[in-house]
Amino acid sequence: MSNVGLFLFRPHETSSTESLAGSESLEVPEGEWEIEEIVDFEWDNSGGRYQMKWKDWDAEFNTWEFRSNLLHCDEELLRFYRKRKEEARAALENSKYVELPTKKLVSDVPPDPRPFDVRVQEFYDVSGRLAEEDILNEFQQQTLKCLHAKPRWRLGKVNKFIEDAVDGKLSDDEVKALKNELLLIEVDTKRKSLLTEIKKWENHINMITGGRPKITIENEVDTSGPPIEFEFVNENVFANDVSIPTDSPLGCDCETDRTSCFGRKSKCCAMKSGYQFAYTKCRRVKLSQGNPIYECNSKCSCGPECLNRVVQDGKSDHKLCIFRTSNGRGWGLKTLKVETRSIEWCCLLVYSDLILQTIFGYLFLILQLIKRGTFVTLYVGEVIQSDEAERRGKDYDEAGCTYLFDLDFIDQDNYPYSVDSTKYGNVARFINHSCSPNLGVYAVYVDCINPNLPKLAMFAVRDIRRNEELTFDYDLQLSESKSQSEEEHEKEKVEKETPARKNTKCFCGALV
Ligand SMILES: C[S@@+](CC[C@H](N)C(=O)[O-])C[C@H]1O[C@@H](n2cnc3c(N)ncnc32)[C@H](O)[C@@H]1O
Ligand SMILES: [Zn+2]
Ligand SMILES: [Zn+2]
Ligand SMILES: [Zn+2]
Repeated sequence: MSNVGLFLFRPHETSSTESLAGSESLEVPEGEWEIEEIVDFEWDNSGGRYQMKWKDWDAEFNTWEFRSNLLHCDEELLRFYRKRKEEARAALENSKYVELPTKKLVSDVPPDPRPFDVRVQEFYDVSGRLAEEDILNEFQQQTLKCLHAKPRWRLGKVNKFIEDAVDGKLSDDEVKALKNELLLIEVDTKRKSLLTEIKKWENHINMITGGRPKITIENEVDTSGPPIEFEFVNENVFANDVSIPTDSPLGCDCETDRTSCFGRKSKCCAMKSGYQFAYTKCRRVKLSQGNPIYECNSKCSCGPECLNRVVQDGKSDHKLCIFRTSNGRGWGLKTLKVETRSIEWCCLLVYSDLILQTIFGYLFLILQLIKRGTFVTLYVGEVIQSDEAERRGKDYDEAGCTYLFDLDFIDQDNYPYSVDSTKYGNVARFINHSCSPNLGVYAVYVDCINPNLPKLAMFAVRDIRRNEELTFDYDLQLSESKSQSEEEHEKEKVEKETPARKNTKCFCGALV
């Protein structure tokens, strides 16, 4: 059956076989009916009804239908709307009495049936388009003021103004007012679709991490949505020309209980490889940066609870937030804000007792911290050969944004591999540089002990509060200048290498 002029008849839902004009109601079978003509329209409380003449049925079978019942007849509705509008215009011109040739009131012109955005486009064609720049400006102004201005007019008023503007009936001031209103509508729509996109991205990422870590995403700064051509992954992706050794090294023969490896440090994996056992009993790293970590591996007799297996599955129980920075550094990663409700709950519990309040407050603060030495996240991405990294790096430097992490722990001048999290990566790819970082990166070896192919694990190098941005030092040369004065640091930020190594000034804001 053709798609034009079809009508799906639903007599028990919203349509009525009873003519508003008062004719007898007649039984009309349910099903698809073909429209011959729209013959009339009347406003009512539900937004108006159309009287339909059906093909191959006499006029006595005409019915009054809601707009929602009229399917696939957009052209028919538009034709009728234009016809009725023209009749109303002619009637007004010809007579003081506002009666149409069809004896309908002028007010019984149906609404323009086209979708809102089509009608707005028609208005823009006639009165000039809003500049994308103005929309972005308004968006940013509102965001800066933390003011999410809602459109002010009722939809009926906007529709009427659009219609009148297209018919050339509005004054310049009225057109200006309409444009202003449309600006608010555009910004509101942009904000809603941005929120939807971000929520979708957030759900997707949490599905991939399985909630470990739990990630939220917020952009209270600009109109940027999820990065394009980026795929969230939990583990490294190896380029075709990079082969990762699968044969695990020798493991330890400690007992299977949780603390056995910890208690037998001298005979366990790290020592066997000639290095120190890396962790405390609380699973915090105790080695200083620059020392490799050797965790237990698939050949070891210990189980997954072993105290020497901290970063290998990459999972953590932190609550992290990917957020849009407000000083031009793009996205960043931070620990999550305290829910105000939980603060209120705490206050309520202890409000009457000062000592209890102090104790609770202290405990609460402790609970907020990511303690120094705690594993936060792995840095994962695409593992590529250094010549490919060199090639990609040039483009990234040009763009002033790089996600390349060189695996140069053994030799800073000569290293075969880099990790690139431009296309594939996890939360760590959103961590910005700071000259006074709170994270340190360690080379960790588990099943692969090729010194040039470690896992990259990020640990807190000091206690980290809630709602604090997570950062690491992209270029250790910069951190060597920690004793320099603030002034020198400022100068260095501009003149020396920066997070993207070239073309990017450091905006970490650290006073080092
Ligand atoms: C690994 S990405 C970090 C996430 C990035 N901000 C984003 O939006 O996806 C590194 C890039 O972030 C920016 N960046 C990181 N730290 C910065 C800083 N302290 N100052 C200026 N830009 C920074 C630079 O463009 C750098 O090349
Ligand atoms: Zn062991
Ligand atoms: Zn072990
Ligand atoms: Zn072991």
